[in-house]
Amino acid sequence: MMIDKESMLDSAIKIESAQPAEAELLYLEVLKADPGNLAAHNALERLRSPHAYGRWMRMNCIIDPRDDIFGFFAAHELARNPIREYLSDGWRTLSELMLLLELVDRPLLKTASVLEFAAGFGRFTRHLVKALPGRVTCSDVLPGSMDFLREQFGVETLESSHDPERIIVGKQYELVFVLSMFTHLPSQMWAPWLRSLQRLVKPGGLLVFSVHNEDVVRDGGIVFPENGVHFIPSSESASLDGNLYGTTFTTKKFVEDCVRSVFDSEPLLFQTFAFWNGQDAVIVKA
Ligand SMILES: C[S@@+](CC[C@H](N)C(=O)[O-])C[C@H]1O[C@@H](n2cnc3c(N)ncnc32)[C@H](O)[C@@H]1O
Repeated sequence: MMIDKESMLDSAIKIESAQPAEAELLYLEVLKADPGNLAAHNALERLRSPHAYGRWMRMNCIIDPRDDIFGFFAAHELARNPIREYLSDGWRTLSELMLLLELVDRPLLKTASVLEFAAGFGRFTRHLVKALPGRVTCSDVLPGSMDFLREQFGVETLESSHDPERIIVGKQYELVFVLSMFTHLPSQMWAPWLRSLQRLVKPGGLLVFSVHNEDVVRDGGIVFPENGVHFIPSSESASLDGNLYGTTFTTKKFVEDCVRSVFDSEPLLFQTFAFWNGQDAVIVKA
């Protein structure tokens, strides 16, 4: 008789504490039938199963079911094993950030303190804390994300807000890294956010943020208006208001003008295709 995956999952959960070895086999069966099943994945991590990703990646591989980025991987048309794809994608970010910082001779591993702003539910954080234990602080606005990051990865957290004026600067960081937040902010929020993030960087430290690559956007058929910004009020997030967090395409000129208006200087580096397949990196020295 075929048992469906929901029943297998229910049975596994029921027997987990009394018969962990049997539960583990059921969780593995669930994952075979449904490779993106986070309940089964997180149970294998919790049981420290030999099949747990945490055992071979040597890090905490628990994934929060509220993570929209995981949802993006799971729903992707090319998804084969979304859990592995999500975990390796964080590793990709680590190598991309390391390569980027080498270009300006500021190696990540020599960085004394990092604020990962807009960290979400820790796609990248888990890799960053492994590289820089005790040196990472995170911030995000997603409900529950800060508790998750503190509990699972032991990071410090900084409370954020949709209003950049409300960010309280208790400490400054050698590196403030903001991956794919400006790619979602309405253009009128860019300068206020750059000003707020500037206050979080130690003098001489770096702000690194990512933007959509202009040519990729043009190749996709979008024609930029004169101000160099094309904003769509929707995103991958079901919980954030599309007018506050949409999808933002910008020209390089718009980005550089914004940086100049806030920092009174040019970006230290504007590196095309630094992250994923279409995001440029902007490095600004405080
Ligand atoms: C595309 S996700 C990227 C998440 C993470 N950087 C990563 O690479 O996996 C953008 C993130 O920006 C966060 N964000 C948006 N507005 C924010 C704000 N005002 N303060 C902190 N984070 C914010 C969102 O909640 C979301 O987690």
